[in-house]
Amino acid sequence: MSLLFTPMTIKGVELKNRIVMSPMGTLAAEEDGKATEWHMLHYGARAMGQVGLIILEATAVLEEGRDYPSNLGLWCDDQIPPMRHLVRILHENGSKAGIQLWHAGRKRVMEGEPRSSSGLPYKGRATKALTPEEIRETVAGFGQAAIRAAKAGFDVLEIHAAHGYLINDFLSPLTNTRGDRYGGSREGRYQFLREIIDEVRSVWSGPLFVRVSANEYSEQGNSIRDYVQFAAWMKQQDVDMVVCSSGGLLLESPRVYPGYQTPYAEMIRREAHIATAAVGLITQGIQAEEILQNGRADLVAIGRELLRDPYWPRTAAKQLGVKIQEPAPYESFWFGT
Ligand SMILES: Cc1cc2nc3c(=O)[nH]c(=O)nc-3n(C[C@H](O)[C@H](O)[C@H](O)COP(=O)(O)O)c2cc1C
Repeated sequence: MSLLFTPMTIKGVELKNRIVMSPMGTLAAEEDGKATEWHMLHYGARAMGQVGLIILEATAVLEEGRDYPSNLGLWCDDQIPPMRHLVRILHENGSKAGIQLWHAGRKRVMEGEPRSSSGLPYKGRATKALTPEEIRETVAGFGQAAIRAAKAGFDVLEIHAAHGYLINDFLSPLTNTRGDRYGGSREGRYQFLREIIDEVRSVWSGPLFVRVSANEYSEQGNSIRDYVQFAAWMKQQDVDMVVCSSGGLLLESPRVYPGYQTPYAEMIRREAHIATAAVGLITQGIQAEEILQNGRADLVAIGRELLRDPYWPRTAAKQLGVKIQEPAPYESFWFGT
């Protein structure tokens, strides 16, 4: 019996399989942050491809929280209707819809001064440390975006706390040099994310995921031990799933190989007793099945392989000898049978 194709229910939301489309920025929005017809086609194709949960790309919670003008946004109500249309397309084609809420922080590329935890320059560019008042506004921005996501009909919310963006900047001792309650100890560096989770939880009762960079690839950075502690706190805050990515804070890239981040999902799952999703160079059905069967993660997120092959669930099913449901209009002549 394949676990990859066994449904899973989280806070009443049933995923028809354990395959997640990992959030991937496409820079295809208009300058107003609204989803376009291209997004309908791009994500709709993966719903037809039978992905259980599609998590939309990093979506800015504040206008200032973008890195490019073509990011998706949920910082104002005008952005809700196209998102609602997109969610309907995914639902009509059997997928659950998730969205990743995000603030780019110091990694902003477009004009305007980037925000950061501590005002350290990044790539030779000055950044501005958030004041306590701006921290409150940013936390509120996550809550407001969560309300808009609920109005658009999303099933799952994911907070982007990875890859060196604003929340990761606060979490890491490499970048957070604040002397107030948002810096210093592990608990202090977690405080910003703690407030964001509490704010989102106060308006959102559905499944809540948090994506982290469980390895910062520096002796002085957070280690997996720190992330086990962060994940334990997340569990106390009613987070349902920790998505275990890595890197993105420093400029160097790690050495990568198939399943290179799966050990983080395994360790956090085992030691913090919270559900995890594995991601990173998972491209084969048998590889995804191994992760689930050996209890290393609860969900498997697929990134680039789903860009190459929108029908990856069918490819994986074939590899595992499983027959999956076809899109209804193909029923009589499904090319997989
Ligand atoms: C084009 C592209 C855009 C990405 N954008 C995001 C993003 O918006 N948010 C995020 O958390 N990760 C992002 N990622 C990382 C992916 O979600 C994923 O973690 C990574 O590609 C590793 O998985 P893979 O080997 O299956 O592609 C992006 C990756 C790519 C290739």
